[in-house]
Amino acid sequence: MVTTRDIRERAGDEPITMLTAYDAPTAAVVDEVGVDVILVGDSMGNAVLGYDSTLPVTVEEVRSRTAAVARATDDALVVADMPFLSFGVDEADSIEQAGRMLKEADADAVKLESGPHTVDLTRRLTELGIPVMAHLGLTPQHVNQLGGYQRQGTDAEAAERMLELAREHEEAGAFALVLEHVPANLAEQVTAALDIPTIGIGAGPDTDGQVLVITDVLGLDEWSPPFSKQYADLRGEMTEAVSAFKREVEEGEFPAEEHSHEVDDVDDVY
Ligand code: KIV
Repeated sequence: MVTTRDIRERAGDEPITMLTAYDAPTAAVVDEVGVDVILVGDSMGNAVLGYDSTLPVTVEEVRSRTAAVARATDDALVVADMPFLSFGVDEADSIEQAGRMLKEADADAVKLESGPHTVDLTRRLTELGIPVMAHLGLTPQHVNQLGGYQRQGTDAEAAERMLELAREHEEAGAFALVLEHVPANLAEQVTAALDIPTIGIGAGPDTDGQVLVITDVLGLDEWSPPFSKQYADLRGEMTEAVSAFKREVEEGEFPAEEHSHEVDDVDDVY
């Protein structure tokens, strides 16, 4: 079983692998392969729930999918992503929602899209025994403020602010930090400045680990961000399989004899 402590100790060591998963069969494969961390990301909004962004994703959706992932996972660390406005509004409510991810969905930790508003919350959750993975750079829950999904930390002032926030979250107790869509040279500096590991997505090769969204990895989406890599074309394979089923039914090829059974007793019921 991978623990948050194992992940924390991997800074500067063997690269950490993290993938998202939103259902049991996918989590089972990711876990069997030996990926270190499974993130039940709020990216499920775009990836599998048909929303245009992550904003509509509910705590219930993340909790139910985290539980499915946790049931299928033996070894990987399962991290539940706290969705938009489920944290940061009211401390007691944030603690309750994060705690329920561990108590009811069997998550090992939560991830918060971080900013100045999550430093104290990270400290409080950590004190209470709810491990926190922080997330800086592009934080898609702020899309309306950022005006899109652009790279972050692209000037000296923004880079310094990010470095400072990274340090504050480490000091508050975060066990790891996701860096999304930031220049590789900034990610390298943040990684060097911290004792906890950084896990990058669109953040170059010098972070302590890498994370990708599973539907991008599998080639399930029509569109993927330029920093992701497709390792398969499951959309193409699904299209072929579904087309073959349709054609075989229409042409009377399916079901064949081996897919049917007969029982003598019901020969004369009609
Ligand atoms: O929701 C998500 O999948 C994420 C990753 C992209 C880090 O936050």
